[in-house]
Amino acid sequence: MDILQSLDRSRLPQHIAIIMDGNGRWAKEQGQDRVFGHHEGVLSVRDIVNGCAEIGISYLTLYAFSTENWNRPKEEVDALMELLVNTIRKEVEVLKKNNVRLHVIGDFESLPAVCQKELNEAKEMTAANTGLNLILALSYSSRWEMIDAAKKMVADAAAGKLKPEEVDDAVFHKYLNTAPFPDPELMIRTSGEYRISNFLLYQLAYAELYFTPVHWPAFRKQNLYEALLDYQKRERRFGKTSEQIQTNSPQHA
Ligand code: IPE
Ligand code: IPE
Ligand code: MG
Repeated sequence: MDILQSLDRSRLPQHIAIIMDGNGRWAKEQGQDRVFGHHEGVLSVRDIVNGCAEIGISYLTLYAFSTENWNRPKEEVDALMELLVNTIRKEVEVLKKNNVRLHVIGDFESLPAVCQKELNEAKEMTAANTGLNLILALSYSSRWEMIDAAKKMVADAAAGKLKPEEVDDAVFHKYLNTAPFPDPELMIRTSGEYRISNFLLYQLAYAELYFTPVHWPAFRKQNLYEALLDYQKRERRFGKTSEQIQTNSPQHA
């Protein structure tokens, strides 16, 4: 049976986050250099963005470049930044057509000026779109984001705009880069590594984690549907007992 047919459309996650890993290893397996893998990875991005838009996912966060990735060889970093600019330039019309709205999280100012310009234009061009929200995590790491949030909170407290007793989950959330978005219900990591690598540490508190050995450039819609099917088999308990969950609504407790 077609795997897409077996998905319960009423129980899809609102927000999927993906650590797109394994471009380099995939390329090596093909006897190519790492940058070839990054180029091929763009085809997977296109396929997964379309797949999410088609089935009605509201938010998709893609971890594209981490704070720590700046420590890679300069040639690879340069190639990734160039690929980012070219991809955004090429894909923005498709995003517009497919009603996808682009957002960026991470240390935006640390990106090369040409990337910032291209991203700002694409964000503006898609700002009125009402379908899938595509959130690119660029020069992003969760510790950077939380430290950034702490700095802003301390500054607001010093200016008398925030009192310690007012700080709760909702207030803390407002200081994060991800303030406009709900927390992901599902986090997928490709390429067989079982770690979070500084990605959305706060926001993934109760996310379902899905790890697949498939390298990112080989990851396509069918693989996404498999992850969603796996997600739908899980019982999300949020600290409660199974009995409590079953007497209430199962997935949306
Ligand atoms: C993910 O693939 C892309 C980025 C981190 C930019 P990698 O480049 O990490 O590929 P592997 O993990 O070395 O195979
Ligand atoms: C995580 O992948 C970052 C991105 C996918 C952008 P890495 O390949 O950088 O992670 P580690 O170093 O294996 O943990
Ligand atoms: Mg990697």
